[in-house]
Amino acid sequence: MRARCCFAFVIALAGGCSSNHEDHGTHQEAPAPAAPLPDVIGPPALEDENPDPNVVEVHLAATGSTMEIDGKQITMRGYNGLIPGPMLKAKVGDEVVVHFRNELVEPTTVHWHGLRIPDAMDGSPRLQEPVPPGGEFTYRFKVPEAGTYWYHPHVRANTQVESGLYAPIVIFDPAKEPEYDAQRYLLLDDILLEGGKRPAEFTQGMPERMHGRWGNTLLTNGAKADAAQATAEQGTVERWRLVNTANARTMELELEGASFRVIGTDGGLIPEPYTTKRLTLPVGKRYDLEVTYDRPGPVKLISVVQELDANDKVVEKPMQVFAVDVAASAREPRAVTWPEIVLPSRAPERTETVTINAVEGGDHGVEWQLNGKSHSTEPLFTAAQGSTITIRLENKLGPEHPFHLHGQFFTVVGDKHPGLHDTVLVPGMETVEIVAYLDNPGRWMAHCHILEHAELGMMSEIVITPKDGAPAPAAPSSGHGH
Ligand code: C2O
Ligand code: CU
Repeated sequence: MRARCCFAFVIALAGGCSSNHEDHGTHQEAPAPAAPLPDVIGPPALEDENPDPNVVEVHLAATGSTMEIDGKQITMRGYNGLIPGPMLKAKVGDEVVVHFRNELVEPTTVHWHGLRIPDAMDGSPRLQEPVPPGGEFTYRFKVPEAGTYWYHPHVRANTQVESGLYAPIVIFDPAKEPEYDAQRYLLLDDILLEGGKRPAEFTQGMPERMHGRWGNTLLTNGAKADAAQATAEQGTVERWRLVNTANARTMELELEGASFRVIGTDGGLIPEPYTTKRLTLPVGKRYDLEVTYDRPGPVKLISVVQELDANDKVVEKPMQVFAVDVAASAREPRAVTWPEIVLPSRAPERTETVTINAVEGGDHGVEWQLNGKSHSTEPLFTAAQGSTITIRLENKLGPEHPFHLHGQFFTVVGDKHPGLHDTVLVPGMETVEIVAYLDNPGRWMAHCHILEHAELGMMSEIVITPKDGAPAPAAPSSGHGH
């Protein structure tokens, strides 16, 4: 189903590398004065400049950057010069103030993917005049839910995200955090490099228009994935937060050498963690894993990628994207106490259908559509705040689409492991139904997270009209997470 015709995929296997984090004025990790938030191993945290323990105030800039891959200096971009950008950490209920400055030569916005914040702060270019080169904008919002999120631009995202503009967000709920020996955030990416350069957008022929841009170099936290390494002690239990920041490639993940269970997804922890052999991680989406080092030796996170063999047959190729060297120890793994997580269970009031299709036309020969329209500013539908609506996503063609809804959470009909999501994969020629809890009023983008599909028109919106006297986002409809 995910076979990609005429699209040979080659991963460069040579040499190690590291992202170039030098010569940029970067804010480094500094614990908040009051109660420090748990440490998350990954990109350095933004420095909170505000002494108020309930306000996180930071400076962020979209800047130039470079990365060294296989001995070549690649021209990139980053947040505060870093790839991935610095981690935004806060706790539920905090006010977040981000003084943002655009040091790029083109306009940009910052979208806080997954956070249910007011629409004007969402980084949607439909609501916010994009920040011009040299311009500034202050994002200000309260974070309502704990979980694993990320931020990225929402202007020409197919080139801006590919060029290195993506970064992690972790929101904690001090009352409900399960305790671990360590936490990590792994941002999994792939970029396309040719002769040490990133080819311009839409220069890769039909495959790029039909499936989005697939890279040839896997990156983990901004470094060549096969070089990403850590050490740990047998008997420790870690929480790994994973996001797929690639433009298009769905990742099929497996973990070897340790036991793990899936404990969370886009909307935070799930009520019933589960074990699985393989985890499908579409672009834009997050999963949290609990990894127990129950034996010494090498642990490997594997991304199983597809490529064509000499006979044009699709074959799977396991690629290592993260490795941990586990030292022997007699330590017994801790028993993790699971908090009570209650998902909303409101019955849907009606069903809205969204068809996914493509036609010939536009600047690049292909236009992707939602309900027969490209880049539509006419909403897919309008609903009152507090509505519960089944959205039927009907995919009329072969390519798959990770459908993303801003500002709301949904459950997936038939999901064997229920949780709250903001992104769902709709496989080729299939229909997926989601139940959306439309509690956050405003104009919200709804689009495919394959960034080329979005750029080629697979981008629309829904409108949620506020209840009287309820201009602010509603609290979650259930006891979800707190
Ligand atoms: Cu992560 Cu509208 O995007
Ligand atoms: Cu798509």
